[in-house]
Amino acid sequence: MIESLLYPRCLAAVGVLRIAALAGLSFAAVAADVTRQTISLDQDWRFQLGDVTNAIAPDYDDHEWRRVDVPHDYVVEGVFDPANHFVYPGMDASWYSLHGFLPVQPAMYRKTVFIPASAKGKCLWLEFDGVFSNSRYWLNGQDIGSQYSGYTRSRFDITGAAACGSTNILTVRVDPRYDGWWYEGGGIYRHVRLVMLDPVHVAPDGVFIAPTVANPGNGILADAPVIANTDVTNTSAVAVLATILSEILDARGQLVAAQSAVQAISAGAGAKATQQISLANARLWSLENPCLYRLRSTIKVSGKVVDQLTTSFGVRQIRFDADRGFFLNGKHVKIQGVNMHQDHAGVGVAMPDRLFEWRLERLKEMGCNAIRLSHNPVAPALLDACDRMGFLVIAENRHLGDTYADQTPRNARAVEHRDLTSLVLRDRNHPSIILWSLCNEQWIQGSTEAAAMARAMKQRVHELDPTRLVTAAMNGGFSDRGGFLSVLDAIGINYHPDVYGAVHARCPTNPVLATEIASEIGSRGFYGTNRWDSYQGDRERGYVSAYSINAGPGGQTAEAAWPPVATNEFMAGGFVWSGFDYKGEPRPFAWPVINSHYGFMDICGFPKDSYYYYQAWWTDKPVLHLLPHWNWQGREGQEISVWVHSNCQEVELFLNGASQGRQTVKPYRHLEWKVKYAPGKLVAKGLRNGLPIQAILETTGAPAEIRLAPDRSVLAADNADLAVVGVAVLDAQGRVVPVADNKITFTVTGPAKLIGVGNGDPSSHEPDKATSRSAFNGLAQAVVQTTFQRGKIGIKAESPGLKAASVSLDSR
Ligand code: GAL
Repeated sequence: MIESLLYPRCLAAVGVLRIAALAGLSFAAVAADVTRQTISLDQDWRFQLGDVTNAIAPDYDDHEWRRVDVPHDYVVEGVFDPANHFVYPGMDASWYSLHGFLPVQPAMYRKTVFIPASAKGKCLWLEFDGVFSNSRYWLNGQDIGSQYSGYTRSRFDITGAAACGSTNILTVRVDPRYDGWWYEGGGIYRHVRLVMLDPVHVAPDGVFIAPTVANPGNGILADAPVIANTDVTNTSAVAVLATILSEILDARGQLVAAQSAVQAISAGAGAKATQQISLANARLWSLENPCLYRLRSTIKVSGKVVDQLTTSFGVRQIRFDADRGFFLNGKHVKIQGVNMHQDHAGVGVAMPDRLFEWRLERLKEMGCNAIRLSHNPVAPALLDACDRMGFLVIAENRHLGDTYADQTPRNARAVEHRDLTSLVLRDRNHPSIILWSLCNEQWIQGSTEAAAMARAMKQRVHELDPTRLVTAAMNGGFSDRGGFLSVLDAIGINYHPDVYGAVHARCPTNPVLATEIASEIGSRGFYGTNRWDSYQGDRERGYVSAYSINAGPGGQTAEAAWPPVATNEFMAGGFVWSGFDYKGEPRPFAWPVINSHYGFMDICGFPKDSYYYYQAWWTDKPVLHLLPHWNWQGREGQEISVWVHSNCQEVELFLNGASQGRQTVKPYRHLEWKVKYAPGKLVAKGLRNGLPIQAILETTGAPAEIRLAPDRSVLAADNADLAVVGVAVLDAQGRVVPVADNKITFTVTGPAKLIGVGNGDPSSHEPDKATSRSAFNGLAQAVVQTTFQRGKIGIKAESPGLKAASVSLDSR
């Protein structure tokens, strides 16, 4: 049994001058007057495609450049094109296809930033959560730094370069360099902010909170010592005596515990404080009740507050047992996870925060409890949402070492671990994270040199966070004892269900989990019956059957992939490749396919049929899902395969009232009938624990009207919130026409903008940035974002020959 590494290592690692335990909580909360200020720089950038070298000069005239807000992905604004426009030297031409046939080129951004005179004497940082990629930065013409990675957060100290009391010109050049084998976009695609602080302040990523739950009791409330580590920096020219006050606030904002320490910090130096704060009867963070606390860190010098920030955290016990899997707060949890890239229909990689949350809502309702953040550091908003909504997370570093080659070259040495360090420092306070993954599938994974690199990385992780185990996703090297197997705390296996038992036997004290399973392929609503390798799906469009009969190279269908995870007690869980389709990686196809087919939801988040396979076996909800659709005009009298995904005990199928037979459900298997097609009504009636449920499919009439279904009707007027608007083409009786492809035009009125459209068609070359979109097998989607103005938003959808639809939203 492997316990999580415990906090005493942090205690030993840092020195504390004096900790004064406060008797009771009689002091007043400290008012933060002149402390750190964080200002969003998301709005009002100027953007220009191509390289404009003289735009670095502060007086460059950019008034003809386009005005954009970030997050911004300019590659998704391009035109799909099979001709490979741009291949980097040394890079295989197939990478253009893997990136979704959208041309990439360098681009420039400029922004005018007013920094007030009051910032004089303060420390100033610029923070970019993610810029794709190979980016360079100038302030007022002065080089302030660069970042090769498109996934790692950058922080630049601009204290010396900034002009206080006046405008400053920030210029960013990006040169998207393919890094992964999926669509990666281009541009400033995550948030940007300016931070202004006193010379005496909490250091960057300087708060690390490590609660320990020795006995999780009933799994709801438990006593927890909380270790609060605080790094304080003094960039001023004088030594100071700093008071470090750490206060714990509960979910309602009530102060529940605190500690104070006094620390001498020399000029230009830093200091660390480690405080142990007792939290009695703490409400535990769990999947069902993801309760969060906040640590308020206040720094005072000569009685004056000079810095204050709050950090969210959760109190929970995580434990891996090599024989019995994963335990959260003492309770066994089978990890039912998905892999997910950052991209969505209409917006590419520039995903607004709410879209992450929307995706997690879709995953939660289908029974998913975990996400592997494949294969790179993600937007902070996604992790925040996982904390709030109760998901288990594997956070993953991009590469073995810090290299950015396709696969790490044989002679590569990991020396700096810059990206890994940045990842762990940024994300270690998230209760959702249960494992750090060093990397995905490195072909040298079985070698001793890979083991040496992984060992150094693991050591680095444990220096920064001794509370979590380290894994990596292996796809080979399973019999090489000297490779990754000799290093990883928890063994991550991609595919190869046949090796689970052997790996467990070889590493009997290490937890084992399936970091990737399945890679099933299917196009939503397409019901061919041939396997792709004999037939190549639909030859014209590259569609591939949504019956669960096809997997990509090296993958398994859902039915072959999940049972080995579910039935082996030692398997902590599995992560389906993938939750959602994503742009790029059209494998095993190429043009005209521009999207992956791997998701059990399409790129809009519309469920494919396999969604219901997992839902049936991942939840206790009654699930009875019937496929395919029942619009097979011209195939009357021919046999159609009818499938059911269900967790009922038995199911009977009826066509137009006539029984087609009753079948018993075997665990983890679908049911299948061969039914001679006649238009009408197909009904499946199931019994689950004695309770009846049914699913109905009907032959529909021709398309007659449009239905709009926004996910919410009240939005925040913050220029960020959004509605995900589902669009369906209905017949005259209000039934979704499952083969409809009508082109729908959207008009948005009021304080909002249409930021993208999609339909889940993996071969559609219609633009994501447009005011119209064809339905794909009856469905489409529009993403509508608020502005800063309040008011009524109107959305209208029209298509020739169809009754139009309108909805109204409220932006407050
Ligand atoms: C895996 C890889 C994933 C994805 C998947 C598709 O080997 O880790 O990123 O490419 O294959 O099947």
